[in-house]
Amino acid sequence: MALSLSPTPGPARSHEPAIEVSHVGISFEDKLVLLDVSFQVGRGETLVLLGVTGSGKSVLLKLLLGLLKPDSGRILIEGQDLVPLSENELSLVRRRMGIVFQEGALFDSLSVYENVAYRLREERERDEEKIECRVREVLRFVELEDAIDKMPAELSGGMRRRVSVARAIISNPLIMFYDSPTAGLDPVTAHAINVLIAKLRDTQGVSSIVVTHRLQDAFVLSNYVFSPEKQGLVAARTDGRSGRIDPTRFLVLRDGKVYFHGTREEFVLAQDTYLRKFLI
Ligand SMILES: Nc1ncnc2c1ncn2[C@@H]1O[C@H](COP(=O)(O)OP(=O)(O)O)[C@@H](O)[C@H]1O
Ligand SMILES: [Mg+2]
Repeated sequence: MALSLSPTPGPARSHEPAIEVSHVGISFEDKLVLLDVSFQVGRGETLVLLGVTGSGKSVLLKLLLGLLKPDSGRILIEGQDLVPLSENELSLVRRRMGIVFQEGALFDSLSVYENVAYRLREERERDEEKIECRVREVLRFVELEDAIDKMPAELSGGMRRRVSVARAIISNPLIMFYDSPTAGLDPVTAHAINVLIAKLRDTQGVSSIVVTHRLQDAFVLSNYVFSPEKQGLVAARTDGRSGRIDPTRFLVLRDGKVYFHGTREEFVLAQDTYLRKFLI
């Protein structure tokens, strides 16, 4: 079941990277969190963001959403610098992005339907038929249409996480952020979330940043592609004939800087003792 994505309003699409972070720094009171961070995420690329607790991963995602302003540097989303934008302008750019927070962060007093419809209402969509049609479409995408009238308390942890993916993709974002999307989930449910991340990437060309402590999840995203026929993941061909270039990059934050940024192969083969700690 394909999710039809109409192009999201925004500047004309060009060859700009989806995300460009340039010399970004931010501190809270006198605590330096990010010192000088620069990297790019190409369109359709998946950036796996690694770093110990407190290294600034969530702060970085908030900067990219324009929820925090950096003290220095530039943050470009599809070529547009967020830093000088007003709150109104930012809310337009945010429509092109979706985020799945660590705990799912659903509104407990709202039904699944209202949680998922939330952004459409925020964007002042009034046509209830259109809203319901779209809510059902994204719930089908995450295979949860049956849960449309349930309350969050009636859902399992995995279902809540899938609802938060549905909520995030309701406005057709071309960029998705996932903050530890599989944390606290059993392996089967974690796999279902990885399938969704790959499905958005491989069927919609979504660019994403995935914060994770589970490297096996990152390697699944790197080694497998979503098959619409199988409605699941199949091993990516690595013989070069498929024309697929692994769109996964790894980035390790350390002491407010980019300590490593590279391909899976570069990461796995790195001899650096600090990087090895993430691998074994
Ligand atoms: N709003 C805030 N005010 C003050 N300090 C903050 C705020 N947000 C994050 N921090 C601090 O920034 C550092 C990085 O936090 P965070 O990005 O949440 O780390 P993590 O890599 O675990 O996601 C932490 O030391 C945290 O206490
Ligand atoms: Mg965090």
